[in-house]
Amino acid sequence: MTIVLTVKLLRILFAVQVVFVPDYNVSVAEALIPASELSQHISTAGMEASGTSNMKFAMNGCILIGTLDGANVEIREEVGEENFFLFGAEAHEIAGLRKERAQGKFVPDPRFEEVKQFVRSGVFGTYNYDELMGSLEGNEGYGRADYFLVGKDFPSYIECQEKVDKAYRDQKLWTRMSILNTASSSKFSSDRTIHEYAKDIWDISPVVLP
Ligand SMILES: *[C@@H]1O[C@H](CO)[C@@H](O)[C@H](O)[C@H]1NC(C)=O
Repeated sequence: MTIVLTVKLLRILFAVQVVFVPDYNVSVAEALIPASELSQHISTAGMEASGTSNMKFAMNGCILIGTLDGANVEIREEVGEENFFLFGAEAHEIAGLRKERAQGKFVPDPRFEEVKQFVRSGVFGTYNYDELMGSLEGNEGYGRADYFLVGKDFPSYIECQEKVDKAYRDQKLWTRMSILNTASSSKFSSDRTIHEYAKDIWDISPVVLP
């Protein structure tokens, strides 16, 4: 069983090319975002860490895979749940899940344990992984005990990626999802945002130019 899973993981790893983009900035984003088909916005629900780049991806017809966090929530509302790949725990569950973990009730998915072992094996380089891996150990404390519930969300993430694979093989479906992401993202225009700030926060009115 373990051997089969490891081989599967290796296949996934070497079939996917991982590229690190150095000095990421707006100019790079202008080229990268319109060229993307799937973008991951996978912060723990309730952390408000999925910000505005997800809006830019969706606007450019890139489909999102993500948790119910930050702007993912609004994007999913706008583009429709069938055009967004959702996974993971929801914000209202997080405190309870951390409590369960503190009580030693969390049972890790064996596939997650295997990924941890795989990283520790040094396949990505001979770095010191103690801090990274240590954050997933123990049952309590900020920065420990898998505070961000990566292990908890992992099985749901894998299942969701399987849905992504299936949808990607259906070119018509994927194209439709992509177009609907662009077509439904007008809410995220800066015009709308600034208008709302002017009205609700700054309390200023537009000036009509002659
Ligand atoms: C982004 O970085 C590149 C070089 O790394 C630079 O040429 C470009 O002007 C930068 N763009 C912005 C918008 O700062």
